[in-house]
Amino acid sequence: MRVAVIGAGYVGLTTAACFAHLGHDVVCADIDAERVARLKKGEVPILELGLAGLIKEGLAARRLEFVVGAATAAQRAEIVFLCVQTPQGSDGSADLSFVETVAQEIAPVLAPNTVVVNKSTVPVGATRFVQRVLSEAGAGAEGVTVASNPEFLREGQAVRDFLNPDRIVIGCEDHESAVRVSELYKRVDAPVLVTDPASAEMIKYASNAFLATKVSFINAIANLCEAVDADAREVAIGMGYDTRIGFQFLHPGPGYGGSCFPKDVAALLHMSTAAGYDFELLAGVVDVNAAQHERMIDKVRAAVGGSVSEVTVGLWGLTFKADTDDLRDSPAIYIARRLLEEGAIVRAYDRGAGDRPRQLAPGIELCGDAYDAAASADVVALLTEWDEFRWLDFDRVRDTMRGRAIVDARNLLDPAAMRRRGFAYQGVGRR
Ligand code: UDX
Repeated sequence: MRVAVIGAGYVGLTTAACFAHLGHDVVCADIDAERVARLKKGEVPILELGLAGLIKEGLAARRLEFVVGAATAAQRAEIVFLCVQTPQGSDGSADLSFVETVAQEIAPVLAPNTVVVNKSTVPVGATRFVQRVLSEAGAGAEGVTVASNPEFLREGQAVRDFLNPDRIVIGCEDHESAVRVSELYKRVDAPVLVTDPASAEMIKYASNAFLATKVSFINAIANLCEAVDADAREVAIGMGYDTRIGFQFLHPGPGYGGSCFPKDVAALLHMSTAAGYDFELLAGVVDVNAAQHERMIDKVRAAVGGSVSEVTVGLWGLTFKADTDDLRDSPAIYIARRLLEEGAIVRAYDRGAGDRPRQLAPGIELCGDAYDAAASADVVALLTEWDEFRWLDFDRVRDTMRGRAIVDARNLLDPAAMRRRGFAYQGVGRR
């Protein structure tokens, strides 16, 4: 099928590359001409496992093309995916202005019977909103329909998630259009759930909010474990064997971050308030998460006797999770900023972050490796679970540090082994 993907960000690029891989003819558009020029040469601007290979494959097979401008991409398409950003507005609601602009731009060029699909995370009601914008801009009479097909892609594993999803959700009032969208996925082995648009949109929010709830729940349990001398990791394993609970998303840590959970939870809360429902449970999830960032700072303070002023803190990891280059809403960046505000000297290393932390946490010193970040540090805080931090030469780390304190906000290291090496180790929810 001929597919257009509007937006060449994390979601758009993954969608475009994977549909090309599945045998469709895909045109992917972005407004950023430089990004498009680089993509045409096979240069991928984001770190996403397997993505560069699929883009090269698509370009070589001429099944994938990059263009500037949504209308250019949409004019020959049978199905158009909207994958543009929906940033968080000041009141927590999702801002639909990018979606609106693209809908206005493509409306005049859409062929009759095109299906326009919202893949960006959009508030409940957005399918109808896009249908209205398209109609007003001249596309309604041509039988153009709008569907919701939310993505459930984890950053770093987006290609794998796209090609091996747990489910495919399609929300559309028109059954024939829903079937056409489902045909795009016919080589993907997953259950397809066709719903009304509002339910499809809610499935996305409810799923992310539920996962965020799981993270906050285990973080709250971890905090309690610290008070009663239990080990939250053992507790999570014991809970996880219950198939109704499962093992995933029960890792205590510094709190969730990233481009999805904080924004989607805020948007769902905003929707609830607007709908007259007081979603206290979800508000609690947000509070626990914010407090969890603070607890990690408390641990750093406690490790150096109460105040971080003029203390050198080595940070391992700045991205919001491992195997991504994404710093959006990263707990590590928040923690770095707070430590700097309190007068700490912050020396950080992250293999995926590049130079951007300098803008996000002004005053931060960026180091070339984990050893450099730990050198002369009074305390080291491991904030992102990059695998390389497991395999360091910890004798070397200890000998170059000034202090001995390690705050392991991801429970990545073995407490007993670290203590044997002479470190004062603190994890999350464990002895
Ligand atoms: C998430 C959803 O998983 C995905 O389905 C959705 O479409 C986009 O949002 P992502 O933001 O890439 O994906 O990250 P994810 O792996 O889900 O982790 C989210 C956050 O929770 C991260 O900050 C992570 O460190 C944290 N987390 C996750 C924990 O602290 N503990 C856990 O057990 C799991």
